[in-house]
Amino acid sequence: MTTARICFVSSEIAPFAKTGGLADVATGLSRYLASVGHDVRLFMPLYRRVRQSVGELKRAYQGIRLTFGGRELSVDVWTTPLPGQGAALETPAQVFFLDCPELFDRPDIYSDQGDEHLRFAALTRGAIESCQRMQWAPHVFHCNDWHTGLLPLYLRTTYGWDRLFSSSKTLLTIHNIGYQGTFATSVLQELGLMEQRRHLAQDDLDHGHVNFLKTGIMHADALTTVSRTYAREIQTAEFGMGLEELLRRRSGVLHGIVNGVDYGDWDPAADPLILHPYTADDLSGKAANTRELLEAFELPYDSTAPVIGIVSRLTGQKGFELLPDILPVLLHKHDVRLVVLGSGESDMEKYFQWLRDTYPQKVANYRGYNNELAHRIEAGADMFLMPSRYEPCGLNQMYSLRYGTVPIVRRTGGLADTVEAFDPATGRGTGFLFDAFDSAALLQAIRRALAVWSMPTAWRRLMLNGMGQDFSWEHQGPLYERLYDGLTARG
Ligand code: ADP
Ligand code: GLC
Repeated sequence: MTTARICFVSSEIAPFAKTGGLADVATGLSRYLASVGHDVRLFMPLYRRVRQSVGELKRAYQGIRLTFGGRELSVDVWTTPLPGQGAALETPAQVFFLDCPELFDRPDIYSDQGDEHLRFAALTRGAIESCQRMQWAPHVFHCNDWHTGLLPLYLRTTYGWDRLFSSSKTLLTIHNIGYQGTFATSVLQELGLMEQRRHLAQDDLDHGHVNFLKTGIMHADALTTVSRTYAREIQTAEFGMGLEELLRRRSGVLHGIVNGVDYGDWDPAADPLILHPYTADDLSGKAANTRELLEAFELPYDSTAPVIGIVSRLTGQKGFELLPDILPVLLHKHDVRLVVLGSGESDMEKYFQWLRDTYPQKVANYRGYNNELAHRIEAGADMFLMPSRYEPCGLNQMYSLRYGTVPIVRRTGGLADTVEAFDPATGRGTGFLFDAFDSAALLQAIRRALAVWSMPTAWRRLMLNGMGQDFSWEHQGPLYERLYDGLTARG
């Protein structure tokens, strides 16, 4: 396509602010789009952690006034090129940070102070008003998740007068339907949406709420989600979390595009965060990484005992509730190691700590967020566990494949689209899958993995199959380009 102007709005952008895969996708897709010549401008809040770590920023605009109900907020805008782009780029993707200390100068990215609706409405309106200041008319406003769900509506109502945006289209990517941004209708006044009530879901209003994600799904020109299987799943009652009917109505504009991987960040041959780089041709560094990982946690190394890794937000979505029924048996009967990195719901954090205390020779547990350790686990583990209840795409299984760390995953969402069951008879496949969301099915998948592990030649084949997969943005990015193209061509 010819050069597209893409305004990418997201609550997370790596490396500035990340709690999960959204941040990686925002960055990876934007880098790709800029690398092929598109004009990409990303918008996110200037959270406290960004302010403290970002280095020098250039001031873009000062004192943009956003009026919400009776309240006036003043927003400054700062900018810097998105890191990690080729130096020779004519138009590097540019990140714009919305600086509004009242809303964003807080210890965490997401907060519980009762004004999330306002924080993220300010993100969307701040992005639109910055475009006005720049007199820059995006071909596409690319919105992400509930935080940006109001943008399409604001664009057509509050900013409907501005001819600058008369040809702009909106795309909403659903990364996770489990988070919808539902608030009491009492916030409508503050959001300046009292006059727009007729554009909101009437059944929600009748029940006293407004749902940001639903509003986005109703008003965006196009919708994507992050895998083909999840695009189908969210149209069913099991996965749609109440939005299935609306999604079925909008299925003509809903596309499933599997996320890409930024191999600039995640490649064992050139990963600066691991101690021993390795490639498919020379795997010796992998064992060295395993040894180093176990030593760091004071676990004994044994080349015959596989290391199972987990790196995850610890939430119900991720399916770890299947573990308590099977792990004690597994840890008793088999010589395996388990290395867990994660944080989230306190029951699960406590469970993994209990496991570590009960099996100190076999289990390591790091509670918290640690990017460097995430890379070291990908490099040092032999198997990677993702028993997700649902998984829109999942990035870790794709990172694992590249690191020769064999994924054991539930066949759902993006996991189903990116991991192929290994068949020892043919030597084809990249991992182990199970279907039913129950512990016995998971245990069987782990046992199948252990059986292949005990056949070194087959295991090596399996590792190499995974390392040879290519989920790069060079493959996935063009699917977004085609979509942008189609959207703008429709006029
Ligand atoms: P989700 O977005 O649902 O959390 P993904 O698999 O798409 O799942 O992406 C998770 C991303 O967050 C990966 O890059 C993973 O390495 C990272 N991550 C998750 N938990 C942690 C953690 N505790 N420490 C470091 N990185 C983490
Ligand atoms: C979400 C999903 C995850 C996906 C990520 C990036 O948080 O849970 O499956 O990979 O977003 O799209």
